[in-house]
Amino acid sequence: MKKLSFAKSDELFELAERVIPGGSNKYVRKRTVMGGIEIQRPKFIDHAKGSRIWDVDGNEFIDYGGMGPTILGHGDSKVTEAVREQLKKGVVHFGLNYELDIKLSEKMVKSIPCAEQVHMLNTGSEATTAALRIARAYTEKAKVIKFDGHYHGIHDWTILNLFGGNISPRLISHGLTKGAVEDTIILQWQDLDSVERVLSNQGNEIAAIITEPYQFNGPCIIPEKGYLEGLRKITKKNDVLLIFDEIISGFRVALGGVQELEGVIPDIATYGKAMANGYPISAVASNKKIMETVTYGRVFLKGTYHSNPISTSAAYATITELERKESYKHLNQIGDSIIKGLKDAIDDLDIDAIVQGVGPCFTIIFTEQEKIMRTSDLRATIGVKTTAMAYPHDRRSAVFAKEMINQGILFQPTWRNHLYLAHNKEEADITIEAAQKALKQTKKIK
Ligand SMILES: Cc1ncc(COP(=O)(O)O)c(C=O)c1O
Repeated sequence: MKKLSFAKSDELFELAERVIPGGSNKYVRKRTVMGGIEIQRPKFIDHAKGSRIWDVDGNEFIDYGGMGPTILGHGDSKVTEAVREQLKKGVVHFGLNYELDIKLSEKMVKSIPCAEQVHMLNTGSEATTAALRIARAYTEKAKVIKFDGHYHGIHDWTILNLFGGNISPRLISHGLTKGAVEDTIILQWQDLDSVERVLSNQGNEIAAIITEPYQFNGPCIIPEKGYLEGLRKITKKNDVLLIFDEIISGFRVALGGVQELEGVIPDIATYGKAMANGYPISAVASNKKIMETVTYGRVFLKGTYHSNPISTSAAYATITELERKESYKHLNQIGDSIIKGLKDAIDDLDIDAIVQGVGPCFTIIFTEQEKIMRTSDLRATIGVKTTAMAYPHDRRSAVFAKEMINQGILFQPTWRNHLYLAHNKEEADITIEAAQKALKQTKKIK
């Protein structure tokens, strides 16, 4: 196996640390230590195309990483062309409406079951902020339920109880207001009894439940049949709004997201990431009655860069590509073939590991458990109580990650990996073969 060098990446990190807190505006760390094993990995990108990226040291990788926005592939020509056309018009930012906004909104209303209207913003955090504010204004109630381990952005109301929190299991960040923390009730996911109990006691104080409908922040948990329907029923019964945070799942698992696949329609949904193949745009979607809170100005949501024409044209081109019949078929076929390859290798080698997720987004988890149902199972499986911000995975995860990187594949255990339309069958086979070798190495770990 070729030994990769990351000398230039390390050099740049030293420079970055001088002017950027922690040396990164992303989750890139100076040293990645998992289970006591240091993992050398690329820290600075140079260029990318399709499913491949090249770092500043000239190493080439098949990429499944990123944070979720890439769905067509890096530097997709149709999206680049749409952006270029927009730049040629000179319409980059104006304080006026822009016709493509209507067309993009029409596309979203057509494909998203809960959407009669959509409001565009820039980031996922803004979209979930908007969803919670709308829910509070509409119901005239203050509290919100979120689930342990679910991530909904950097704002104060939900940045609690995440996996990988660096202060305590509950508190992820200092600097939050007491009111925001007190107004957020944390429950375990996939436990309808606790939701029922809290709503029957406190339903008159609770504006909404916010949930990732598939928990992709973590070990790609697809809920048990009936769970989302159960949430829908209980929220309706108690006049509490149901918000699906589809920032990751939206446009990734299907054009209409999880709500299309599962047939459960929330009151409000949020979108971002895959909707523009990497350009910054997000949206909050709902029915007209709930959106009247925005129409008549009871909820303030306007922003300088909302519905920015560059991102809008990228989103329009991305969704147009995804509308092609073959798109989700391809994502599922290639993704499913990798999932099957991983499962077969796990069985053949008799390893305690499982694969969770769906074709467009999935992961491998080293565990003795048959499945991971919620974040507390994950904490238990890798022995983490109060999690340190360093990746706290076990040694098998560390060896697997390291071996995959050494074979030129950015594919992480425990956390989600993403399929792009640009991934092909040959790359899926290369990935499976690399995973077989990496899994063999994990067997040597005591
Ligand atoms: C489910 C979910 N909601 C919201 C967000 C926040 O999005 P952003 O990072 O664009 O603010 C994220 C980001 O990872 C996410 O995964």
